[in-house]
Amino acid sequence: MKKNILITGASGQLGQFFIDKLVEKNNVISTDINVSPRLIKKYDLKFLDALNEVKVRKFIEKYHIDEIYNFASILSAKAEKNPLKSFQLNTNCFLNVIKASISSSVKKIFWPSSIAVFSKESNLNYVQQDVIMNPTTIYGASKLACEKVINYFNINGLLDIRSIRFPGIVSSSTPGGGTTDYIVEMINNIKSKKKYICPISPNTILPMMHVNDAVDASVKLMSVPRKNININNSYNISSFETTPYEWKNLICQMGYNLEVDFQPDFRQKIADSWPRKIDDEQIRKDLNWKPKFNKIKTLKSVIEDYSLT
Ligand code: SER
Repeated sequence: MKKNILITGASGQLGQFFIDKLVEKNNVISTDINVSPRLIKKYDLKFLDALNEVKVRKFIEKYHIDEIYNFASILSAKAEKNPLKSFQLNTNCFLNVIKASISSSVKKIFWPSSIAVFSKESNLNYVQQDVIMNPTTIYGASKLACEKVINYFNINGLLDIRSIRFPGIVSSSTPGGGTTDYIVEMINNIKSKKKYICPISPNTILPMMHVNDAVDASVKLMSVPRKNININNSYNISSFETTPYEWKNLICQMGYNLEVDFQPDFRQKIADSWPRKIDDEQIRKDLNWKPKFNKIKTLKSVIEDYSLT
């Protein structure tokens, strides 16, 4: 039977890719505060401010929602510009979704965490699932706070909340406001033929993954029985690692002309506090999952998506 799925923050970096996947088998109600005419037309996007608990509850009741994917959030670099507002938005949207879901038709919630929860104490060269985390960004702090809430609700059996710590996501949608945005912006600049000013230094290693792998793992995580899930907060996940220098060279080796000027800014400090490599053995084991896109396949696929749009 088709499930009724509510997506908040559906206009953002991840939303449209989840909609495309979830509509294959479900009724999807896509919502955001940014309702562009294009998205209304394509996804029947509806206005919903996830900060308004009463409205979230009304949507749950009206559409008999079974599952919620909560993507309403401000990314790492943008969050630093207005830390308290960003912390409030990132945590309150999620808390409202939880509050509105208790004693309702909602059976499961998906919530994306991030590699931003880690810090220098986490052994950034190879970060295990359960390590010391003292994030130095407000974005990381908001993600870690929500992970603690998830753990509380799961271990007490109050709600079934599932979550993954995403690395940088590579897709044909420019995220805006993230520290890992360069990975998409470089591809974007092939098309615009503009010189790219990269805010991250050439040899900074960060973990990345193709958006389709992120979506597949998340949807799979939402589909398995709770007893298969061994992590009560958020799962580590990973696919490949790269640097801005390597990414630029790969683009050029594929025959594209891309000029890059490296001018590290405040985002460099954020990147330096994030993992270089992630141990994601637990999610691979629990879901019998592995990424389908390696570095080259990811780049080719996203370049192709760009020329189609
Ligand atoms: N990609 C995100 C960012 O750069 C991290 O989760 O903010």
